[in-house]
Amino acid sequence: MYTQALNTREAAGAAADPEREARFQACVDAESRIEPNDWMPDAYRRTLIRQISQHAHSEIVGMLPEGNWITRAPSLKRKVALLAKVQDEGGHGLYLYAAAETLGISREELVEQLLAGKAKYASIFNYPTLTWADIGAIGWLVDGAAIMNQIPLCRCSYGPYARAMIRICKEESFHQRQGYEIMLTLARGTPEQKAMAQDALDRWWWPVLMMFGPSDQDSQHTDVSMRWKIKRFTNDELRQKFIDATVPQAHYLGLSIPDPRLAFDAASGHWRFGEIDWDEFKRVIAGNGPCNRERMRARRKAHDEGAWVREAALAYAQKRRQRQAAMQVAAE
Ligand SMILES: [Fe+2]
Ligand SMILES: [Fe+2]
Repeated sequence: MYTQALNTREAAGAAADPEREARFQACVDAESRIEPNDWMPDAYRRTLIRQISQHAHSEIVGMLPEGNWITRAPSLKRKVALLAKVQDEGGHGLYLYAAAETLGISREELVEQLLAGKAKYASIFNYPTLTWADIGAIGWLVDGAAIMNQIPLCRCSYGPYARAMIRICKEESFHQRQGYEIMLTLARGTPEQKAMAQDALDRWWWPVLMMFGPSDQDSQHTDVSMRWKIKRFTNDELRQKFIDATVPQAHYLGLSIPDPRLAFDAASGHWRFGEIDWDEFKRVIAGNGPCNRERMRARRKAHDEGAWVREAALAYAQKRRQRQAAMQVAAE
């Protein structure tokens, strides 16, 4: 907990306050958590709002590609597990919107930014899910990459974000194992099933590597985020950790990674890999991926169709308040 002696509510106009900034940085350096009522630099607040809301939007948009397969899951057991996973992702979005709200932005504003196309979400969710094997590949690789990114966030300097991540990571590791088990079943199935698993790996591998963001020399936010202990590892470090962990898993499945330059470097103990197509990444981020328009259409439709639920909840809350007020008057 950041010390209360800092008279924390006076955040306004405090951006150029070197003394407070020094105390803030000392608190971060000492691995203390910054809490919502503590003083923080405006740029720290803005960075967190951007990062947490992008993360929340990613969880919510991420429900779409997999939700697409709930009605087509190959068995009741698979359907139940997928349904639970997609619901978990919705829950992650809600924890994260709540964490962002502690920084002084409203849920309505955040959702509005997403629906207006002003907010970003993870580029990976703009790719289509063509076969059942894609559900395995997403759990194994996309949730696997998410865990790699998110485990260090459990130690993020901002308390509400760090605490949300602890809970989220527990569920993500279950998703990853569930996806890997789907891949294992397919890889040990008929030749057609194994080919389906390989095809899913071929299509998802490179977009998953892009999930870690631009390489360190092109990343705008890394240095300051590391100093604030929002980030603990650079994009390239996390990408390398992910590749090192995942290549042996692919080999165990008997599948091959679609990268002719992939090679184990015994001296460093790391897997070396080929060039990422950053033009594709930029295209998808800019809104021109295979499914960007479809995803935004689906979110806007869900928001419009859910309007009556929000209105009904507000009307009910108002009625309840009136009833309670009337009862209080009667009791007096
Ligand atoms: Fe999630
Ligand atoms: Fe997940």
